[in-house]
Parts: sequence; C-alpha cells; structure tokens
Amino acid sequence: MSNIGSYDERIKNFSWAIAEQELDYKPGNVINIGWYCSDRICQMGKADKLGLIWEGQGGVEKKYTYNDIRIATNTIGQFLRDLGIKPEDRVCLFMDKIPELYLGFLGILKTGAIAQPLFSAFGDESLFIRLENAQTRAVITQKKHAPKVRKIIEKMPWLEYLIIVDQDPAKPLQQREVALNLEELPKVEKFEIHPTYAESPSVLHYTSGTTGQPKGVKHVHYSLISQYLTSKWVLDLQDDDIYWCTADPGWVTGTSYGIIGAFSNGVTQCVMDSGFSAENWYRFIEKHRITMWYSAPTAIRSLMKAGDEVIKKFDLSCLRHLASVGEPLNSEAVIWSEKVFGKPFLDTYWQTETGSIMISNYPGMKIKPGSMGKPFPGITATVIDADKFEPFGETGKIGLIAIKPGWPSMMRMYWNNEETYKNKFKNGWYLPGDRSSIDNEGYFWFVGRDDDVINTGGHLVSPFEVESALLEHPAVAESAVVAKPDFVNMEVVKAFVTLKPGFVGSKDLDLDIMNFVRKKLSPLAMPQEIEFIDSLPKTRSGKIMRRILHAKEWGEEIGDTSTLEND
Ligand code: WTA
Repeated sequence: MSNIGSYDERIKNFSWAIAEQELDYKPGNVINIGWYCSDRICQMGKADKLGLIWEGQGGVEKKYTYNDIRIATNTIGQFLRDLGIKPEDRVCLFMDKIPELYLGFLGILKTGAIAQPLFSAFGDESLFIRLENAQTRAVITQKKHAPKVRKIIEKMPWLEYLIIVDQDPAKPLQQREVALNLEELPKVEKFEIHPTYAESPSVLHYTSGTTGQPKGVKHVHYSLISQYLTSKWVLDLQDDDIYWCTADPGWVTGTSYGIIGAFSNGVTQCVMDSGFSAENWYRFIEKHRITMWYSAPTAIRSLMKAGDEVIKKFDLSCLRHLASVGEPLNSEAVIWSEKVFGKPFLDTYWQTETGSIMISNYPGMKIKPGSMGKPFPGITATVIDADKFEPFGETGKIGLIAIKPGWPSMMRMYWNNEETYKNKFKNGWYLPGDRSSIDNEGYFWFVGRDDDVINTGGHLVSPFEVESALLEHPAVAESAVVAKPDFVNMEVVKAFVTLKPGFVGSKDLDLDIMNFVRKKLSPLAMPQEIEFIDSLPKTRSGKIMRRILHAKEWGEEIGDTSTLEND
C-alpha cells in the first residue's frame, strides 16, 4: 500500500497540519531541520538504523547510522560555533558528493546559520558572483576545490574562513584557512541546537534567470513540512526503503530530497560519488538493493541510449518505485522504463523557488506518459492567460503555470533582490515561468519555459552569464547564447560569436573559447558549439534577438521580425 493511498481522497480536506502533526510540530514552536533529520529519528528508536551509505571513487564505502549522523552534525555545528559562526551567517558548501557535504549541511542548520550549497564544478567566476551576493562568511570545501576559492579570496574581504575537510596535516594552511577533519575532532555528544523557528532562514540556493546575475533563493526551516510530506506521498518513502536520489546537493533536488526529505523520513539513503555509466548505475542499484530511485530525464535517456542488453546483466528486481524531475520527461522514457524495470518513472515538476514538488504523478494514480500529473494536495495550481493573468475558462489551452502562494516550502525572498522577487507574482498568483496546458482530466502537460534560460540535462544555465563570460575572451566582440536540441540533454548551450578585428574563426579558437567558459563558469555552461558569424540579429534599438537564433536551431518559424535592424 502506498503512503498516499488515494490521491482523490487526499485532496479532499487537505491541510498541512497533517505533516505538522506527524512531525509533532506546533505552530510557534522551535523547528530546526538539522534536529529533525538526526536527533528526532534517534529519539524515535532508530539510532542504530543506517541513514547514509556512501560510495566513492573506486568503490570505497562509508556508512553512518542515524546516531553517527546526529553526532557528526553536532561536531560540525560545534566546530562552526567555536569559529564564531552566528545564526543567519551564510556558510557555503562547495564539495563533491562526499559525506561531509551531507553532514555539513545539517551541521550548519543546527547552528542556525544558512547553508549555501554551490555545485563543486563551478569555476571561480560562478563562485565569486554567488559568494559576493550572499556575503558568505565561510566556505567549506575539499583541498581539490580550494584553489578556485584562493584565486578570488583577495576580492572577498567578507569571507573569513576557508574550511578544508581533507587537509593534509603536514601541509601548512594559508591565511584564513582552517582544517576540519571530522574523523579527528572530538565527537560532540550533546550540542545545543540553535532554536530556529518556522520563518528562520535555512538554505540559500542560487538559480539562473535570463537577465541579470543568479538569484539567491531564500528558504526557511518551515520548508520541512512540505519536503517531509512530498517525500512521503510522492516518493513514497517507507521505513524499509533503500533510497537513491541521484541529484547533487549543489542543486535543490539534492537538498530538498537528497537530504531533508530522506532523513526527516528516517530512511536509509545511498549516495554515489563516482562517474556516470549505465553499468555503474545498475551495479549500484543491485549492490545496495535500492528500492526507491529519484532521478532525472537526462540520466534516463542516457540509460536508454546504453541499450537494454546491459540491464539483463543485473538483478534490479529490488526497484519498487521510480520518479524523475528537472526537465520534461518524454513519454518514450516512461514507456521504456515500464518495459525494462517493470515500473514507470513518475514525473514530478517543481523548481528551486518552490522548494518541493508542486505537480506530480502519484503511486496508484493513472499515469499518462508525457504528462507531469496533477497538483500536490494543498497546492492550487492552474494555467493562466499570459496577457490577462487569469485562468482560462476551458481546458487544453497553453498558458503560464500559476500557483497560489502560501505553501510551506515556498521561497521567502531572492537574496537582496526584492524587485525580481515581486515580479514573480501577478494577480495573486506565483508564476514559476513555465508554460503548460491542462487536459480535461486535470493533468498538466509541460510545453516549455517562458524565458531564454537553457535547461541542459536538468541544469539551468543563464544565457546572460555565458554571454558575459564570452565577452571577457580577448577574441570575442559580441555574442548571443541559445539552446540547441540534443537527444540526451534535451538542450545544450550554443554560442553565436562575432570576432574582434584581427581574429579569424578556427578550430583552435573554438576550443580555446570553450575552455575559457568552462573554467570561468562550469562544464555545464560551456558552449557545446560555437558558430562564428559576421553580425548578430538585433532590434533597431540594438537588443540582440536570441529568439531568431533559437528558432533557427530548432527549425521553427521565425515569427515577427518587424523590429529587426537590417531586414
Ligand atoms: C524545469 C529543479 C518539465 C522547469 C527541481 C522548472 C521541468 C525548472 C520539470 C526548475 C518537469 C523541472 N518537466 N520541466 N518535470 N521539473 N522542470 O530550479 O523549467 O533547477 O522551472 O529546480 O526546471 O529548475 P530548478
């Protein structure tokens, strides 16, 4: 029996008080995610249950019971407090998927400070922009990533500590650097957790928009209510589940469901910190007897590409329930998973700003492959007319997804950017910035984004950020960045570039520019293709028309070009 039982029953008389009661939380009381994800599970008699099974490169393994998690997060919390980290200070986690990332996240929350996870593949410029915006007080990282922080540390007087979790004791530390070796620190059995309340800030995740710099999405401790219940009802986490969320906690899925949802439900979760290959993934599932698998369309399409033969080498009968997030899950992928795993991947839709799943397919509900499903109980979602900002009176029309504000895990602000935050609301609706239609049975069908943000393999890339980085290359005069179709990643980054006098397009220059962006921003933001052109299409007022370049890439109608400069 699934946790949700019947979706239709659950939407009648739904109240978030269901989650509050299950978590023994009363409005006005203290609520701390760090405590809920460790101490509380121990208090419920699961201290000796495995909470985290971690596998790194070469198959090395580490295992943590809930009691180990409780103590390790206490120890990190005490360490940070001893350094002088205060509630609401921003502490960045800049690490691969190693245990310290998961434990550090909860340790930060226990002190009342704000956890700011950043993807470890970010280059120095991506990092700087986000640390500057948040005025981050400390960065926790690994020695392999420390050089990227050192490169910009002189520009960051607000950053007091660079904390390294695997520092070689024989090597000297530089100014502002501190070593945090979890295995050598005295274990802290009792830690006074900072009394955070519902509206106390918890997590700051950065996400990209079309224009301007990345936005810091501020979440609060009360987000737990949504993350706990969606994990229970959508991911269907049950006591004997072995759960695998493939997302990196540098992004929201990796924290909302790779940390908070999993641990607050007291399940055993597995983390794999080694590269992707179909064999490696199937081996991991078989070895750990994974029952619940939360992944992403790009990974699923990569597995499809690897073929069905490889699947036969493994016993994957342990899989009980599968779900997906991050980009459109095409119907072929759903049908394929049903064929090869005997279960469909259930599509779930949400975003950094919503903090938890908004629209989804549920265990037991009729699945329509290609549809995102229906709103989570307690979520009022619809599709509205993009001109009038009002719901359509009929089904089947394409419009903007609109959600009634007020669910527990909704972002509370964009960090230092109230204006952009306000622009996300129209006519009493929160607008995620996506387009969809709804069919006559209430199922949502994703159409596309309502902006130029590129969704490559489930990662959002801002064309603005890539264009800005390109302009810093000595050969580049102007650039326009758009999405280009790709079978596995759905979209990849493509750059159109005009060169400065004296430069000529060549294979070498191409590679040089790609590398330049990869180092500054990240491998995700690196253009997969660069096209050198003589001039970019612009409006008469000089604005680059990405729309025209985008349409060309996708073989679409170009549409109205009446404002074009030289037509
Ligand atoms: C897209 C990731 C289609 C969408 C949790 C959204 C999806 C953005 C789906 C958020 C889905 C997410 N089908 N598109 N099931 N899920 N998206 O903030 O454009 O990294 O607004 O959060 O990804 O990406 P974010």
